[in-house]
Amino acid sequence: SVEKLYKIATIPGDGIGVDITEAAIQLLEKVAEVDGTFKFQWENFDWSSKNYKERGYYMPPDGLEQLQKHDAIYFGAVGWPDVPDHISLWGLILPIRKYNNQYVNVRPTRILEGTKSPLTQCANKPEDLDWVIIRENSEGEYAGQGGTTHENSPHTIATELAIFTRVGIERIMRFAFETARSRPRKKLTMVTKSNAQRHGMVLWDKVFHEVAKEYEDVEWDKMLVDAMTVRMVNNPQSMDTIVATNLHADILSDLAAALSGSIGIAPSSNLDPTRRYPSMFEPIHGSAPDIAGKGIANPVGAFWSAAEMVRWIGKGELDHVADGLMTAIENVTAAGIKTKDLAGSANTKEVTEAVCKEVEKVL
Ligand code: NAI
Ligand code: MG
Repeated sequence: SVEKLYKIATIPGDGIGVDITEAAIQLLEKVAEVDGTFKFQWENFDWSSKNYKERGYYMPPDGLEQLQKHDAIYFGAVGWPDVPDHISLWGLILPIRKYNNQYVNVRPTRILEGTKSPLTQCANKPEDLDWVIIRENSEGEYAGQGGTTHENSPHTIATELAIFTRVGIERIMRFAFETARSRPRKKLTMVTKSNAQRHGMVLWDKVFHEVAKEYEDVEWDKMLVDAMTVRMVNNPQSMDTIVATNLHADILSDLAAALSGSIGIAPSSNLDPTRRYPSMFEPIHGSAPDIAGKGIANPVGAFWSAAEMVRWIGKGELDHVADGLMTAIENVTAAGIKTKDLAGSANTKEVTEAVCKEVEKVL
């Protein structure tokens, strides 16, 4: 039989990004071996903060072209205390998102089997907290416009321009409505701040209402971002799909991850829905310098991201593999094999090996 080959670029980056990327590759190799209809071809890129300090760059000048030869990108985390965070983010992850047209960032959150939400009103049934946050991934406050003048004087001026375009808003709203429509509850909550931010956010609202007319089967509501944090804590059952700007969704998705148990379980997919450029898959957490090198990072967010990567590259043909992978992950959490952040005592390696073993049974 002819096996399909998927070319994956891996960028482990810094800190626990290295541990969890290694764990994800080990798991995906196991998945391909057990399934037997496809294979991965890995190419590793050592674009890290340590190498930045030696070379003076994260990505070489042809870095983006090198990535574009792949079917997908698997990313660990970037950032280390000895390099300013805006240098590492703008040196690596933000240009990859921007120049590969990854205008959607999908961040699902739910309470996994055998784990607990810190929220007391969650009985920890699956329906207690089951959200998909759709993050606008190309503009807003992260567009990169602005500047600094009169530097090193008492009158230093710095501006950070939030960019909102009709095209950018329309495409993210459409993706959010399609996501809401594809889920059983067909429910979308739109997050805004159009009371205080009276230009960009007003356009955001206006385009939302226009697109909503095309999706009459989707029930929607609208929240100001500050009130949204309260609703996420007090009434998690009341939401399903959530759409928010780049900045708002960045913050809300960390909160969502914590409310579902740990930031260590949360995945994210940076998608180019046109499929012209490779999409990128990464856990939402950072390099976690406080636990790096100890072998105790939770690999679940990395595994969930890997499952979403399989789903994406399979274009509908590998959904059963992605679903099987999620079942394997949840069988392991349900069995109590968990890292410390989930109140367990297993290390990264033990969780990884347990999920690999489960894959043999489930797939
Ligand atoms: P962080 O996500 O690295 O860590 C926050 C806290 O969560 C820490 O206490 C950490 O130990 C814990 N944590 C995170 N992931 C975990 C896991 N898998 N298992 C167990 N515990 C986990 O965020 P922080 O500390 O704000 O940032 C550290 C560095 O990472 C910074 O340089 C930051 O810029 C960078 N960063 C990079 C991101 C990326 O590459 N996409 C995203 C967020 C931060
Ligand atoms: Mg973040």
